[in-house]
Amino acid sequence: MKRVNFSTLMAASALLITGAVQASSEPAKLTQAVDAITASWSSTETNLERHDLLAERPALIWLWAGSGYDKQFNSPRGHQLAVSDVTTILRTGSGEKSASCWTCKGPGSAKLIDELGENGFASRSFAEVGSDMTVSVGCKDCHAEGDYALQLPRPHAQKAMAKIHMPFAEQNKRMQGAQTCGQCHVTYYFQPEQANRVNIPWIFGSSADLIEKYYDTRQFYDWIHPISGAPMVKARHPEFEHWSRSAHAELGVTCITCHMPEQKDANGRAFHDHNVSHTWQNFDGACSGCHDSETQLKQQVANRKQQINQARTEVEALLVKAHAEAGALTEARVSFSEMGAALMDIRHAQWRWDFATSSHGVHAHNPKEGLELLAVAKRQATMARARLEVLLDKYPDAKVVYPDLSSKAAAHKAIGFDEAKAQAQKEAFLAEKVKGKWPSVTSLSQSQSQ
Ligand code: HEC
Ligand code: HEC
Ligand code: HEC
Ligand code: HEC
Repeated sequence: MKRVNFSTLMAASALLITGAVQASSEPAKLTQAVDAITASWSSTETNLERHDLLAERPALIWLWAGSGYDKQFNSPRGHQLAVSDVTTILRTGSGEKSASCWTCKGPGSAKLIDELGENGFASRSFAEVGSDMTVSVGCKDCHAEGDYALQLPRPHAQKAMAKIHMPFAEQNKRMQGAQTCGQCHVTYYFQPEQANRVNIPWIFGSSADLIEKYYDTRQFYDWIHPISGAPMVKARHPEFEHWSRSAHAELGVTCITCHMPEQKDANGRAFHDHNVSHTWQNFDGACSGCHDSETQLKQQVANRKQQINQARTEVEALLVKAHAEAGALTEARVSFSEMGAALMDIRHAQWRWDFATSSHGVHAHNPKEGLELLAVAKRQATMARARLEVLLDKYPDAKVVYPDLSSKAAAHKAIGFDEAKAQAQKEAFLAEKVKGKWPSVTSLSQSQSQ
């Protein structure tokens, strides 16, 4: 059952007000479209459905142990929920972390980056700037005021597009539209030497191999895996990257074609549907020129999804064991240098697995790339285990215990994470710091209980 909660209504009404103010300064012609657009944009508040991905795949908890993602990880849902979801999720704890976590949640972050500079913004804490995040993903994230020209307000995104030789200002409207999505639907890391500001690691290019080359050259790691001791890197929703190498991208079929297809308003004027969602919205308008059968296409996507799920399950099983085996060797005091090659194989395999699977919709966006990455990840994870086996033979004192990952609770127990305690701390933070103080997050426990 879908249920609209108070916080989303608040966010929606804030948007309606913004829309109305902007509309009044527009030529009459645009006003109608802006009303319809604003209504469709606000309606993402009804895209409430989400999945608890850690419950669906408890192995993720073991693979991401110590990274923060082991605490809570959900599928994405409506843009109107971005501010309240990031506030209530266990990963942001009591708000001590960097304000960088706000970067992709709404126009408030771009405004503050403008005022404080990138490092100034990133060096504030998440809690410190929460009350400035008044609007969840909104018009100004993609449009200039006044004429609604497309824009990229985030400096990290502008720099990234320039790095891959696609500077925003020089792109046609289609690519500019895709780049507005790519500000947020893209992989990133927090730059430790720059106050943890957001950076998109496309220095050599945007493929998994070239990003890995950059991380390896810099000897960068997001976190040290507490079980195996491997220096890990985390991929984060690289939708833009996968799509940019697809047959669709080549043909100019972009995120906008599929997720914001054109519609007509009450007066027959065309506008882009701003209810961005994960549903198949407009086969006839957007796809039927090149594809004949909707049923067939849906079946094809479902098949690809199944293939990807199968491949990822195999890689996950290998990586779970590899971390446990390396952990046993570490406990038996085998040196890091002796295990180095195996730990690097774990790092590289998990990076590719993550790059393929943390991208929501890879089965629709670029299944070929997803499957290729998983095939390489499988080889690398197998190689890691072969190296570890040699060491386990050499050091018989090392006793491997494989974890019980049969449920989310069992997996949390295996890594020593107390979910109930973290939840209680979160509730206290929300009650003390957030409720009644952060305008777009007023009724948090409700949005979380979804
Ligand atoms: C300012 C950052 C930002 C921008 C710009 C942005 N998104 Fe999102 N998007 C998010 C976040 C954050 C979520 C997850 C919200 C949640 O789960 O609370 C999300 C969720 C989604 C979802 C899931 C929706 C659902 O109902 O399941 C889709 C699809 C999506 N975005 C596509 C797009 C497309 C296409 C564009 C460009 C037109 C775009 N996004 C632009 C941040 C952004
Ligand atoms: C050819 C059409 C097409 C293009 C182009 C496209 N998408 Fe998608 N996208 C889909 C489909 C179809 C799904 C849902 C797959 C399914 O039903 O499982 C999806 C899923 C998603 C999801 C996951 C939604 C969820 O709730 O899990 C996100 C996020 C997303 N797309 C963002 C983007 C972004 C950002 C771009 C551009 C960089 C893009 N898409 C380009 C068709 C497209
Ligand atoms: C995630 C990015 C994004 C957000 C947020 C967004 N838009 Fe758009 N908007 C687009 C894109 C992309 C287009 C299509 C531009 C093109 O190709 O002509 C568009 C088109 C428009 C147009 C031109 C008419 C049309 O539909 O083609 C207007 C007006 C507009 N948007 C208003 C708004 C308003 C008002 C809001 C906030 C309620 C908003 N947009 C939020 C990306 C966005
Ligand atoms: C301009 C032509 C064009 C349009 C418009 C278009 N597609 Fe495609 N699509 C292609 C081409 C070309 C391929 C690649 C065919 C191949 O490689 O076999 C493709 C492949 C696909 C695939 C298969 C991906 C895979 O490898 O399994 C899916 C799914 C898909 N399209 C969905 C959509 C959807 C959904 C829309 C509309 C929202 C759409 N397409 C619009 C041209 C288009």
